[in-house]
Amino acid sequence: MDIANNFKYDVKILSIFPEVFPGPLGVSLIGSALKKKIWNLDIINIRDFAKDKHKSVDDTPYGGGAGMIMKPDIIGLAIDSLKDNRSKRICLTPRGKVLNQDKVKELSTEHGLILLCGRYEGIDQRVIDFYDFEEVSIGNYVISGGESATFVLLESVLRLLPGVLGGNETLNEESFSDKDLLEYPQYTKPRNWNGIYVPEVLTSGNHNEIKNWRDKQRIEITKSRKLDT
Ligand code: ADE
Repeated sequence: MDIANNFKYDVKILSIFPEVFPGPLGVSLIGSALKKKIWNLDIINIRDFAKDKHKSVDDTPYGGGAGMIMKPDIIGLAIDSLKDNRSKRICLTPRGKVLNQDKVKELSTEHGLILLCGRYEGIDQRVIDFYDFEEVSIGNYVISGGESATFVLLESVLRLLPGVLGGNETLNEESFSDKDLLEYPQYTKPRNWNGIYVPEVLTSGNHNEIKNWRDKQRIEITKSRKLDT
């Protein structure tokens, strides 16, 4: 990705609830990066491609069963309208492979992303296969639809784009980016809060000791918390 050449990381979101976007993607560092055109956001309302007067986007499942399935013909029209064969296609679903930091890094090197937000009982499998969508889950639990999952995925990916994080945030020491260790605990002023003091080593000014303490904390905290990766 080359900012000098005005190259944008291109994000297109297909949803039946376009009004929820940009939501958290429009604030803070990621929101500023959007304004600076480091990345680009297009929201596509799947319902705009519905053909009947009720603007239906779902129908009953073949073979019976509960709930409704998102229709392939309508989603197909929405995808075709993008005329984009360069971006990676991701479908947010609890059936997908669970997102982790390695996957996040990989996605941040793509030309861009087309994100399909599932709703109801799911999406007709033919759309997923035909358009080669990769199914991604944000965790082993079920939420109401892919929109919140899209926020999670994009917040993790977009912050890795060159130029998104400011000087106060750094990528190299935080959880999962370095040797899969979690972060050490952080403290700020006041030094004495409710009689609880900041660990003395942090106020010692001895950079070697501080680094050793922090490294040790990272190892201990990683060991003591079961990592669900
Ligand atoms: N839609 C519903 N639950 C989800 C999950 N866990 N991950 C991604 N999309 C979802």
